[in-house]
Amino acid sequence: MNPSRSHGRQSSAKRERDDSEGSHHGHKSFKPNHYHQHQSVSHHGQNTVGSQSLCTRRELYDRGFPVYKQPVEVGCFSLDSHRRFFNDSRQLRFYVEPDRSPNFNLRDGYKDRFLKRDDGVKERLDHLLRWIKANRSKLSSRLPADSSRDLGVDFVTWRGHLTKLLTTPYETKEGWLLAVTRFRGTWYISEVETEAAQRERMNRTERHEEMMYWGYKFEQYTCADNLHSLPDSGGVVNTNEAFCTVVQTRLADHRLLFSGEVDCRDGDPKAPPPPACYVELKTSAEICTPKQRSNFHRFKLLKWWAQSFLPGVPRVVAGFRDQDGVVVSVETFLISKISQLIKNEYNCWKPTVCMNFCCDFLSLVKRVATEDSHSVVYLFSWEPRRDVTYSVHRDSQYSFLPHWFVEEMTKTEDSHQS
Ligand code: A3P
Ligand code: MG
Repeated sequence: MNPSRSHGRQSSAKRERDDSEGSHHGHKSFKPNHYHQHQSVSHHGQNTVGSQSLCTRRELYDRGFPVYKQPVEVGCFSLDSHRRFFNDSRQLRFYVEPDRSPNFNLRDGYKDRFLKRDDGVKERLDHLLRWIKANRSKLSSRLPADSSRDLGVDFVTWRGHLTKLLTTPYETKEGWLLAVTRFRGTWYISEVETEAAQRERMNRTERHEEMMYWGYKFEQYTCADNLHSLPDSGGVVNTNEAFCTVVQTRLADHRLLFSGEVDCRDGDPKAPPPPACYVELKTSAEICTPKQRSNFHRFKLLKWWAQSFLPGVPRVVAGFRDQDGVVVSVETFLISKISQLIKNEYNCWKPTVCMNFCCDFLSLVKRVATEDSHSVVYLFSWEPRRDVTYSVHRDSQYSFLPHWFVEEMTKTEDSHQS
């Protein structure tokens, strides 16, 4: 349901930092530590379409934590049960703390009270572009008057795409394809489904399909529609519905505008303003052995950290479930504490590696994707154990900026000029 979910529900993070890894946003901004351009771009022969590539080996990115400014929510939007866009927070839900051992049955309703979003429909950046169209004046009002013709950001994308970039140095199974178009000075990044991902999507087992429902069912058990109601576990789970935050931040010299789905907010009206009041909900298999604990730290917490750290969501509430889909315990993880939690794992992932890799990838995009045209796509491609490479496509199937967006941006610029 998340843009980052299609765009990954996967298509589809707190303040401060107290350890030297600096894995967190500073009070205002995180100091550049020892940030510098890394020599990880190599030049290849003529047999790749692009001449530059980016190595993804972890060691190359293990340096000081880059500046990552406190993400600021600049807006939000909602998608209703029919996936229609609304420029407001009507789909925002409110967290209701469950018992520590709630025995939620996550299988309930799978057969008869589940409306699943069609994940064969590729929405690309459309909903986010719709938000930009409706809120453009808000964005450019932050800019000096003479620069009102551009958006004032370098990159526009889904949070889920950035999550994939953050975890790339540690990913061993799934590659990615990211289409980039430079249009009016901003780089738009939109994921393209890989052949392997498409095969996987079309060949899911019944068990896998059902387990994908469990995460949404947990959301239903723990979220209320408003401050004065309680969760309704007897209702329908409709994964078309979504509430998305739009945040602005900066990673080193890259100004970012991205959106991600938010599961719910703190039910206390006195909670801090967004994104600090947001809560990410997760389910995971219960942990019974030291090996399971280690795998949870190494793989799950990496993904959870990356997803929530990016938009400044401070906590993840995890429901641990048994083999039969019954939630046996609930635990809160503070994003700012996760790097401490994993410190005892041998050769574990590091937040700084994730952030530096993402930063270097964005620098590569700026160097490579120089032609400013709505119909040109630079397709960046990565497979595990390989370098990131790219190819260039003009007026192709990969073009993803819709005509209405291109027209809108052009029209408004002309009216600014007149
Ligand atoms: P869990 O992550 O609790 O299993 P999110 O946590 O990003 O809000 O996503 C909510 C739920 O969507 C997930 O809950 C899972 O059920 C489903 N989901 C997310 N990403 C998925 C993926 N890549 N494949 C399958 N299901 C996914
Ligand atoms: Mg969630």
